[in-house]
Amino acid sequence: MKAIVLFGSPGSGKGTQAKLLKKRLGIPHISTGDMLRERIRLDGELRAGVGTVMLSGALAPDQLVNRMVEDRLGRADAAKGFILDGYPRTLAQADELCRWLDKRGVREVVIYLAVDYNSIIARLMGRRQCLRCGTLYNLVSQPPKVDLECDRDGEKLVVRDDDSETVIRERLDAYERQTRPVLEFLRQAGRRVEEVAAGADSPEQVFEKICGIVLNHDRA
Ligand code: AP5
Repeated sequence: MKAIVLFGSPGSGKGTQAKLLKKRLGIPHISTGDMLRERIRLDGELRAGVGTVMLSGALAPDQLVNRMVEDRLGRADAAKGFILDGYPRTLAQADELCRWLDKRGVREVVIYLAVDYNSIIARLMGRRQCLRCGTLYNLVSQPPKVDLECDRDGEKLVVRDDDSETVIRERLDAYERQTRPVLEFLRQAGRRVEEVAAGADSPEQVFEKICGIVLNHDRA
């Protein structure tokens, strides 16, 4: 089973790389951010509670996220492997994931996308996305062919609700306080963590580096 964990700050390119990996490997892309946004869209009560928390840039409660991920990993399409994007994000989540993997004898590879602060801000401020097909763009590095329209389906591109300057600052703060320590926890626990310099390279170049790591992991 391929268990790939994409780890990194907001805007480090986890979603971009997960989409490319899914296409190459044929295993599901499991994004806790996407799952939470979908749940909030469908559930008014959750929207008022967790939705408000997310819009402020803070993290959703561990219990909710852990349950959501466990359910998702138990689905048939994840039997051969999965790509986790945005999970684990706290020590409690990391602990839960390690337990899940160990119980099944699955050896993960954690890919840490290291990106400098200025690139992160530029990427998040320039991000646009298509709500119909999910394609990600960047006004600077990956602009659409026609201004603010999706290349694939012509849908109007939108700014994500939490991509405003104030909320980005809060998300980065939550990352420093609650998520960065997870990296050290995983290293200390002897999990396989691979750092990929992902600040200056194009998405395709970063992807080739990740593929090299994943291929090596399969051989080990
Ligand atoms: P989530 O949706 O996971 O957002 P995030 O972690 O903040 O990450 P982003 O989606 O902003 O960035 P990314 O790393 O995926 O980068 P992307 O590929 O889009 O979480 C949102 C919220 O949900 C959280 O704040 C929290 O409230 C909640 N949540 C989610 N998971 C949770 C959890 N486990 N526990 C608790 N709460 C949780 O790229 C960004 C931009 O850069 C794009 O425009 C892209 O085109 C561009 N780009 C990508 N790669 C490159 C490159 N190599 N060069 C140039 N540009 C690039």
